[in-house]
Amino acid sequence: MDRDDQGAFVLKPGELARIQSIAYERSGIDLRKGKDQMIAMRIGKHIRSSGLNSVRELLSLLEQDRTGAVLMNMIDALTTNHTHFMREPEHFEFLRKTVFPWMLNQGGLRIWCAASSTGEEPYTILFHLIEHRSGSGPISPMLLQEIEILATDISDRVILQAKRAVYPEDRLNGLPPGWLQRYFRRGEGKWAGHYQVKPAFVSRVRYQKFNLMDAVPASWRFPAIFCRNVMIYFDRPTQANVVCKMANALEPGGYLFVGHSESLNGIDHPLTYVRPAVYRKPDGSEPTPRMSGSQENSR
Ligand SMILES: C[S@@+](CC[C@H](N)C(=O)[O-])C[C@H]1O[C@@H](n2cnc3c(N)ncnc32)[C@H](O)[C@@H]1O
Repeated sequence: MDRDDQGAFVLKPGELARIQSIAYERSGIDLRKGKDQMIAMRIGKHIRSSGLNSVRELLSLLEQDRTGAVLMNMIDALTTNHTHFMREPEHFEFLRKTVFPWMLNQGGLRIWCAASSTGEEPYTILFHLIEHRSGSGPISPMLLQEIEILATDISDRVILQAKRAVYPEDRLNGLPPGWLQRYFRRGEGKWAGHYQVKPAFVSRVRYQKFNLMDAVPASWRFPAIFCRNVMIYFDRPTQANVVCKMANALEPGGYLFVGHSESLNGIDHPLTYVRPAVYRKPDGSEPTPRMSGSQENSR
């Protein structure tokens, strides 16, 4: 890796191609078009912060990487984990009005939050579920037992952060009134200015490392899946593959939530369009041709 006249890192074409192909093959992340400068900048930073000397050293570690840790750290450096509480609030309104009542009828308040990053998304889902069940009244342990949230991500680092569940105060500004007191405890000492999700709620979210490129365990069946703001990194064939896996993991009639900038338009998948960024698995009571987003187009 060399530097250009302005001192910015420049990857040699062979190195760039190798990093692009490793990222694509192992994590689905498509860095192939017009992102050379961004890759060089992030890889340069990653090499420095990992105490490595060259991109050759990084590539050789990637070749010997039996545990996947070197890959994961590089993917972490190349992508963003940006997320926040109450992100894309239309989804939570739809959950409350339509999906939770349906799930209760089905008998299972279970949600898989894939690509859950640092936890803001699964905790937002959890708090909405609790509010729905408790109507802002007391939260009994029995009520919490009813709820199961699986939160997965490719990155150990963000999973650790999510389990720690500590957030700076300014990241909690958008929470509805009363939620801060109800769901968080205030940090003291070196944690002043931070809040932590109360342990009773943290323990209702099961965190697990999961790469969306891998096969979904057969036992994973959910009435609702969130997979938001990760498919933007994938090309169309990879998106189609991930959506089909999610569809298999949905119960009949179950809902898939994607990011609002991640329309499934033009992708071949077996789900029915419900509303922007929400899709549903047919429940078998109606004919369901495989479609490629045409239904979405017509709205
Ligand atoms: C931008 S964040 C989205 C967080 C959250 N879903 C939201 O919408 O706010 C994208 C997350 O996807 C994760 N990710 C990237 N590639 C992945 C893969 N192949 N499998 C699982 N997670 C992945 C990243 O580690 C990151 O935490």
